[in-house]
Parts: sequence; C-alpha cells; structure tokens
Amino acid sequence: MAKYFAEESRTFSEYLLVPNLTTEKNTPNQVDLSTPICKYKKGKEEPKLKINIPMVSAVMQAVSDSGMAIALARCGGLSFVFQSQSIESQCDMIRKVKKYKAGIVASDANVSPDSTLEDVIRLKEELGHGTAAVTEDGTADGKLVGIVTTRDYRVSRMAPDLKVKEFMTPIDKLVTAPEGTTLKEANDIIWDNKINQLPIITKEGKLVGFVFRKDYEYHKANPLELLDKDKKLIVGAGINTHDYETRVPALIEAGADVLCLDSSDGFSVWQEKALKWIKERYPDAIVGAGNEVDAEGFNFLAKCGADFIKIGVGGGSICITREQKGIGMGQASAVQMVAKARDEWFEKTGEYIPICSDGGIVHDYHMALALAMGADFMMLGRYFARFDESPTRKLIVNGSYVKEYWGEGSNRARSWTRYEENGNGKGKMAFEEGVDSYVPYAGPIREGLETSLAKVKATMCSCGSSSIEEFQEKARLVVVSSTSIIEGGAHDVIQKENDRTAR
Ligand code: IMP
Repeated sequence: MAKYFAEESRTFSEYLLVPNLTTEKNTPNQVDLSTPICKYKKGKEEPKLKINIPMVSAVMQAVSDSGMAIALARCGGLSFVFQSQSIESQCDMIRKVKKYKAGIVASDANVSPDSTLEDVIRLKEELGHGTAAVTEDGTADGKLVGIVTTRDYRVSRMAPDLKVKEFMTPIDKLVTAPEGTTLKEANDIIWDNKINQLPIITKEGKLVGFVFRKDYEYHKANPLELLDKDKKLIVGAGINTHDYETRVPALIEAGADVLCLDSSDGFSVWQEKALKWIKERYPDAIVGAGNEVDAEGFNFLAKCGADFIKIGVGGGSICITREQKGIGMGQASAVQMVAKARDEWFEKTGEYIPICSDGGIVHDYHMALALAMGADFMMLGRYFARFDESPTRKLIVNGSYVKEYWGEGSNRARSWTRYEENGNGKGKMAFEEGVDSYVPYAGPIREGLETSLAKVKATMCSCGSSSIEEFQEKARLVVVSSTSIIEGGAHDVIQKENDRTAR
C-alpha cells in the first residue's frame, strides 16, 4: 500500500522566526555568512572550500554564464555555469572566468565605426552601462579605433542612423595603456588624466579590455571576493548524467572548481553512476548532486559520495514539474526533512554534507528561513535573473523594465540540442517542465545583494546569531495561519506611493 507522510508539506511563506535575545555580539558587521560547500569531518578538519555568502546561482541558461559567474564571485558567491550548451562553449565560459583579472574587464558593448547611434542606444539599454568600444570589426578584441560614452551624443539632437565614426571619441584623442599595465598603474593613469575608463590595448592596437574607475575602487573595498589560491575567481559548472565522461574531463581541464549534477529528480541510478565514475577518476573534484526532497533521497546520494546535496523538486518560480508530473514537496518541508537526515548522517559517520535549498526563494526573508531550517546555502534562479549581469535581454513590457527568464525544462532551453545536433530533434521533449517568462529588472547585482544580505544579517541578529551554524542551532520557528500572514504586511492603512522594492 502507498505510504503517506504524516504531515502536509509547507512552503517558506508559512513560517516566521521568533526572536531570541540579541546581545552586543549581535550586530550586522559581526555576522559571518561564510559557509561550507563540500563535505568534511566537522570538528576535525576545515572544509576544502567555503563560499563567503550563502548564495549560488542556478544552473540555467537565463542565469549563469561567465558574466554572472564573475559578478557573483566578486561578491563572495558562486555561479554554476549552465550545462545545456556544447562542452566547448561551457568550457569557454569557465576559462573566461578563470582568466578574469579583477579590475580589467573584457568589453561587452562593442560596435564598429559603421554602426549607428541607434545601435549604441540599444546596447546601452540592454547592458545597462554607457561605454561602448569601437573596434574595426565590432568585436571585443578587434583593433580599437575609438570609444563612445554618453558624453559623445545627444539623442534629441542627432539622427538615429548617424554613423558611430561621426561622433565617437577617436583613438588619437584617447588615453590608453599597453597590455601588461598593472592595476595600480592603470589606476594612477585614470586619476592623473581625470578619466572614467582606460582602454588597455596590445602592441598591435587590439583591445584587451577596460579598467573602470568605479570597478577599481570596488575591488579595493571588497574583501568577500571568492578567490582560489592563485587569486583567480572560483567558478562552478553544471553537468548531466548523459555526457559526463567527456564533459567532466573538459571542464576540469578548463579550470572549473566545483561541479554539480543538474537534474530535477536526483534520486536515480544515473546520478549514482555519474558520481562513482567522477570520484574514481577525480577523487579531489568537488561534485554536488540532487535534487532530493526527503531523507531517503539524501541518504542515497550521501552513500553515492556527493559532496553537497541540493534540495527541491517543483518549487522553482518557472517550474511546472508538480503540475506536469505530480511529484515534489513544499520547499520548507523538504529543507527540514533533508536537514534532519544530514544531521543524522553526521552523527553516524562524522561526515558533514552541506545541503543547498534550490528554488522557491521569493522574498528576502525566505533566505533567512532556508538557512534557519538547516540549509547551508541556497541556489537561486529568478533572483539572479533580474540583475544587469544575467545573460538575458532587458526589455520594456507595459512600461516597466523586465528581463527574460526561462526554465531549463522549457522548450526554449532544450532547443539547443536540436541546433547542436543539426536538427535531428534530440532536444524535443514529450512535455515541458518549465515556462518562458519575464522578471522585473532589479539593477546591478552588487546593490541587490547588499540589500538582501543586510536583511538576512538583521534577521540573524534578531535571533541572537552571528554565524549560520549558530543560527541553525538557535532558530525558533512557528507556522503561521493565513490570517496572520495578512497581519504581516501593511494593513488597514491607505498606503502612500509604495517605494519598497518588491522582492
Ligand atoms: P527559482 O530561484 O525559484 O527561480 O528556481 C530556480 C530553480 O528552479 C533552479 O535552480 C532549478 O532547480 C529549477 N528549475 C530550473 N528550470 C526548471 C524547469 O524548467 N522546470 C523545473 N524546475 C526548473
């Protein structure tokens, strides 16, 4: 006979944290959000890898490319570059992150001298910043012939089809620096010449990248950057259970620091086979697996040797798995069950396997709840898709800026295999498990993260905790009734213009 779980499954919005005593030790600047990302013998050794904020970006085309990986690692988190692309292009993205020199930025907005003012404006709207490189062939590493910044044009006075060569600042009027210039030297040049950006060029005049005044200052002020022992940014990569025998060696060669099996249902012999294959050949590789929603699933992947285990089936914002297949579990209950299994595993074996709550984080306070319930870190898709640094287009819909966001189980994401394999239809699915959507645009990642993490820290202080581990031990949670949820928002007042950011 079928087995029934004793309790109904619940979502984050059904819980609140009850405050504990706050002491002098509980101020936001004393809260440490670093957290382990691979299994270790807790109490006996240090984890091989920790991330500095408990957030990783989802293994999704619409979220995690090299741009997001660089931006998030610079803020202390980790991206898993999506695996629904060819091995070569995924490895190119990993290499791009590992090659990234903090402070020298490859140019993402590039035009040719024959591009038009309209092209420049479109790029500015898409990418959210105002400097475009003008190269002979319009590529990021072509021969630099000038730059265009917002100071070079006035939309109201100039025709949209005016050629870039007519209004750009040409190279002979630009201050540039040769390849090999150190960051410190570049910064001095920027200050001496009172400029906002400095193009770095090769002996042949080809563009290497820009040093921006604001970036350099940020780099100096950001102690959380997630760096490896060679001071390169740390990056993760998604993998699958089909082509791991070729994809994994290529990704490791390209420099991926962490791998993660990406599947909506990880309770399968395919994950077991993949984990065993990888661990036999690369015993030092850090490989996460999932997704699971209960103790049985957790114990299975723990026995298979997973370094971390992801939790969540059907809770993602773009996910329709529950509607389509009828499988899943409310995310809060799933985190609680897996956290209990993780603690029991630790008691039994002395091995602490970090767990990651994946999907379903809607409000910032859900982050604190996920951590309090036992998650060591979180994976987010929708949250990161909204920022400038996600790889998708920024558009105006109904008068508001939005960014595109689609599920990995949608036809849109899956169609890459069809293109890859010359239209033989391999990527075609019997049904979709994800939708194609828009999410409200939320500006630069750094500012968004600062706000969200300020809230997480404030919650932890209210709960008398200065670290995630302490928070998990001390947290007291209560299930809330539907009427007390209404009480939690502004109510029974006529609100003035609402400038609180809806997150
Ligand atoms: P979000 O943060 O709520 O947007 O959820 C992101 C998570 O949803 C990802 O990390 C995946 O685990 C999951 N996901 C991504 N694409 C799909 C899909 O097409 N169907 C179901 N789940 C998906």
